[in-house]
Amino acid sequence: MPGFELWSDKERKEVNDVLETGILMRYGFDGPRKGIWKSKELEEAICKTFGSNYAQLTSSGTAALTTAMSALGIGYGDEVITPAFTFVASFEAILSIGAIPVLVDVDDTLTLAPDAVRKAITSKTKAVMPVHMCGGMADMDALIAICKEHNLLLLEDACQSIGGSYKGKSLGTIGAAGTFSFDFVKTMTCGEGGVVMMNDKELYEKCDGYTDHGHDHKGGADRGADLHPFIGYNYRISELHAAVGLAQIKRLDEFLAIQKKNHALLKNILATVPEISFRRIPDPAGDSCSFVSWFLPTETITKAVVTEMKAQGILPGNFYWYDNNWHYIRKWDHLKQGTTLNALSETLKAAIIKHANKDFAASDAVMCRCISTAISLLWTEEQLKEKGDMMVKVVKKVLSEQSASL
Ligand SMILES: Cc1ncc(COP(=O)(O)O)c(C=O)c1O
Repeated sequence: MPGFELWSDKERKEVNDVLETGILMRYGFDGPRKGIWKSKELEEAICKTFGSNYAQLTSSGTAALTTAMSALGIGYGDEVITPAFTFVASFEAILSIGAIPVLVDVDDTLTLAPDAVRKAITSKTKAVMPVHMCGGMADMDALIAICKEHNLLLLEDACQSIGGSYKGKSLGTIGAAGTFSFDFVKTMTCGEGGVVMMNDKELYEKCDGYTDHGHDHKGGADRGADLHPFIGYNYRISELHAAVGLAQIKRLDEFLAIQKKNHALLKNILATVPEISFRRIPDPAGDSCSFVSWFLPTETITKAVVTEMKAQGILPGNFYWYDNNWHYIRKWDHLKQGTTLNALSETLKAAIIKHANKDFAASDAVMCRCISTAISLLWTEEQLKEKGDMMVKVVKKVLSEQSASL
């Protein structure tokens, strides 16, 4: 899956440029930095590569979501509709700005089910935040229509789908704003980092200030001369992290080409089993192909396949999200119990605890049959074939055992 697998001299060179000057901060120190501005360069490369007018780097994907929501004016008392299958960071970011996460069902795209979004809209809903999970994408036409009809903001959590697109537009550049994560396991990495992409200049200026204690960055070389039009925080990326990202973005096409090739080979092997079906991708040409997500006919069969893969030592790299503590609501007891270190408002606490009694049967029906296989960029064709054949063997073994026991 990720760019870290192909670590090279190119990343070392960009990092060394920064180490040579010793200026690790992205702002100021104009003289000593000797013209090295890795964060600015990476932001320009992001705009060019993904087709957004503006890009604001952040210290993480979570910080990018928090920044985007604040800049969009989402906050206290607002509801944000987002899927029950995502990484915990999606709802963490919503909570961090005092808004209310409203988690709803996913469908066989593994992303927001448009019908579930419609049903969840209330007078407090301010935004819909689809999460383009596992390299694929949400049904954006349906979600755009809902947002237009109800005058809601559309914010894309594209943290897992760098390099994916929908009808020719890069994921993360379709809504009012969109985010990527550049953490260590993403298709391109900074080690840690993230970005908010947007087309609106005013929104960009808000993101720019928010990530740097509210600085307006209009004081020139003297940071002390900057004004603070609003309160911000420190979500800055460092020059060292941006340097890694700069090397990686130049190699992104290379990474994606390998990812797509390996994805197609593995999918073709799995597709030889008629009982295996695949995740629905609203725009197959736009799949970034970081995972093959596949379904088995029942929960019992899927669990037996997972158990057998584990027994045979081939489970690593395969994710059964239904039982995973990070990605699916079933195991998010801390959210459902409202367990936080700091006190929440009574309203917010009550709103998140409500998720414990919500019906996610539609999502369960999809997630309990789904396995996602992460695509490595390092597999040789022989290794890939061997891996695929072993997976197919396991599935066939389980299917024959299950039918024999009927
Ligand atoms: C869907 C999703 N959103 C947000 C994030 C947060 O990104 P980060 O780890 O850079 O904070 C992640 C990270 O895995 C993610 O998968």
